[in-house]
Amino acid sequence: MFNHVSPYAGDPILGLMDKFAKDPRTDIKVNLGVGVYYTEDGQLPVLECVKSAEQTIANPPRPRGYLPMSGLPGYRKACQDLLFGKDSQAVSEGRVATIATLGGSGALKVGADFIHQWFPTAKCYVSKPTWGNHISIFEGAGMEVGEYPYYDAATIGVKFEEMCQFFEGLNEHDVVLLHPCCHNPTGVDLSREQWDIVLQIVKDKKLIPFMDIAYQGFGADMDGDAYAIRKAVEMGLTVFVSNSFSKNLSLYGERVGGLSVVAETKELADVVFGQLQFTVRRIYSSPPAHGNFVVDTVMNDDALFAQWVGEVYEMRDRIRLMRQKLQDSLTAKLPERDFSYFTKQQGMFSFTGLSAEQVARLQEEFAVYMVSNGRMCVAGLNNGNVEYVANAIAQVLQ
Ligand code: LMR
Repeated sequence: MFNHVSPYAGDPILGLMDKFAKDPRTDIKVNLGVGVYYTEDGQLPVLECVKSAEQTIANPPRPRGYLPMSGLPGYRKACQDLLFGKDSQAVSEGRVATIATLGGSGALKVGADFIHQWFPTAKCYVSKPTWGNHISIFEGAGMEVGEYPYYDAATIGVKFEEMCQFFEGLNEHDVVLLHPCCHNPTGVDLSREQWDIVLQIVKDKKLIPFMDIAYQGFGADMDGDAYAIRKAVEMGLTVFVSNSFSKNLSLYGERVGGLSVVAETKELADVVFGQLQFTVRRIYSSPPAHGNFVVDTVMNDDALFAQWVGEVYEMRDRIRLMRQKLQDSLTAKLPERDFSYFTKQQGMFSFTGLSAEQVARLQEEFAVYMVSNGRMCVAGLNNGNVEYVANAIAQVLQ
């Protein structure tokens, strides 16, 4: 029956987690692979605001009926407030269709299915490089996926001119997948001036911008990280936004994300909202309740919300500190090399420029795990391992 089924090679990021877990070198091993925030003690945090929300949810315990296909209204409102701002005109005009999804990945999948159904000839273009699953999800939805120029290894910046030229050559309704902040995997973001230019091209060429924001709060701040989204809406663009609470609420396993589509009118947004629900219904019917309860409780309570923002900024600041420490340590060891990119890049990731061979050596000789494309999750560093990691990197670079 299954002779024709080809084996799965495994996922380059999640497969690394399994390998790391099985590595017996427990005294030295360091996980800088998957995009997960660990505390200074190397623990996966349960945020204080989440603990409070879970107590509220448990007292008295809430019945677990089916949620609406689109998720809890309070959850959807939380997504809209965060992404578009509490004073968003598009939201108050009813032009934003938002649904709760199974993480940011679920949002991408629902959005990709919707786009492929209603724009069957549209192609999707992702940054070169991008998070590998972007390609898998859009291809899995039946779309052809191409790459647009983005990362410039020579300048550790963006190939901005090439990117703009590429966008100029795309067809109406092609999808461009954009990272509003904390680009995954490079940590290299567009400046506001660059966003303004790119979004104007997107508008002129009638492209479909699909903005995937999984690290809001880890770059500049909550509002600053949403700049590109809010600017696009202000410019009158129709836009898809997938967001994730995995990282900024440390709720990875609860699969908490959202998909928002900004339409030209309330009537169109309502139609889109209906189709998004149908898309959900035929994939997984409705989202799970717990994560919806937690997000709703935290985000719609002023005190818990303020506590949450503070906790996100603590995570952000600890990552920044680790970037600085790693940069300082490596610069001291190899003064002829420039490691300033560590503190220029934003968010959880740093694109180190290490080759696949060097990454493999880090894993084999030092039990330091990174993605083979050279992506390091800086949030896995702490004061106890940063010097060890710097030593290991210095050795493979020599
Ligand atoms: C990552 O990029 O490491 C995270 O987004 C986790 C994942 O699902 O790949």
